[in-house]
Amino acid sequence: MAGFIGSNLLETLLKLDQKVVGIDNFSTGHPYNLDAVQSRVSTEQWQGFSFSNQDIRDADACLQVCKGVEYVLHQAALGSVPRSIEEPLMTNANNITGFLNMLVAAKDSGVKRFVYAASSSTYGDHPGLPKQEDITGNPLSPYAVTKLVNELYASVFMKTYGFKSIGLRYFNIFGRRQDPEGAYAAVIPKWFDALIKGEDTFINGDGETSRDFCYIDNCVQANLLAATVTDELATDQVYNVAFGQRTTLNELYRMIRERVAVEHPGCANVEPVYRDFRAGDVRHSLADISKSEKLLGYAPEYSVSAGLDEAAKWYLENR
Ligand SMILES: NC(=O)c1ccc[n+]([C@@H]2O[C@H](COP(=O)([O-])OP(=O)(O)OC[C@H]3O[C@@H](n4cnc5c(N)ncnc54)[C@H](O)[C@@H]3O)[C@@H](O)[C@H]2O)c1
Repeated sequence: MAGFIGSNLLETLLKLDQKVVGIDNFSTGHPYNLDAVQSRVSTEQWQGFSFSNQDIRDADACLQVCKGVEYVLHQAALGSVPRSIEEPLMTNANNITGFLNMLVAAKDSGVKRFVYAASSSTYGDHPGLPKQEDITGNPLSPYAVTKLVNELYASVFMKTYGFKSIGLRYFNIFGRRQDPEGAYAAVIPKWFDALIKGEDTFINGDGETSRDFCYIDNCVQANLLAATVTDELATDQVYNVAFGQRTTLNELYRMIRERVAVEHPGCANVEPVYRDFRAGDVRHSLADISKSEKLLGYAPEYSVSAGLDEAAKWYLENR
């Protein structure tokens, strides 16, 4: 809720005059993300939000926040492949025990739909491109294991309790409020921040690693569609959430540098520092989004380039 994707969901929902209950322990999220949302909605809309500073590893806390709720959009987890390699126990507790607590609480509270953040890391070592939902490989990191286990639990809760959920396999989401700080920050916020501040930027490997980068507003759209889709066949499913285009890190670097250079011309010719490949990273990633398009009606509005224009505005104003 106080993290990157959660705070963007909160903002959209409040702007749609929805009542929202949030839970976050501020482990990687920040109170200032909630303040930012407050500043972007009306006083009446903000009054529709109630927040619980608690931990999803606490099953009772999960039950409290699910009481009377119709839809759960579960985002809370410890992200980052490298963090999970450093801290597998902590990642497991937050991403598996925490997830299970939320799933049980949602089921026991009679929630209509449980939508949760799954991950493209579930494709693991399967080399095929583009990634289709039903063809996965073996996980390459503890983080990927946790996200796979989430999907397994969601599917077993359908089989054993008839509780329906939808998993959204996010592919490198980026945009406003994604945190550039800390050792486990994602590449886009890290590069915007470093280029704006005139610091070194690093590329792990030769820069030809590619990802399907997806702007946050596309991800928010997918969540709202997943929560409200009425077609029975569309639930108890997992979906790719991406733009459907592959960008290499070298290309991405140039796109970000070009946008920062408009206000910081000094960085126009700055080159990145290349260093070793990172353990647990897959080489290429690209989503087939046809299932999301067909069953959810997903139609991503922002290309990578259009999303980077929006992200640039935000980082240039806020860093
Ligand atoms: N950003 C991406 O590209 C991406 C890609 C794939 C999957 N995901 C998944 O999407 C979700 C949201 O990611 P994000 O990028 O917004 O990350 P984020 O770190 O900004 O947000 C995660 C939020 O969860 C909270 N949280 C973590 N553990 C908690 C706990 N035990 N109790 C309560 N709150 C807790 C954190 O404080 C933070 O506010 C995560 O599940 C992540 O694994 C993100």
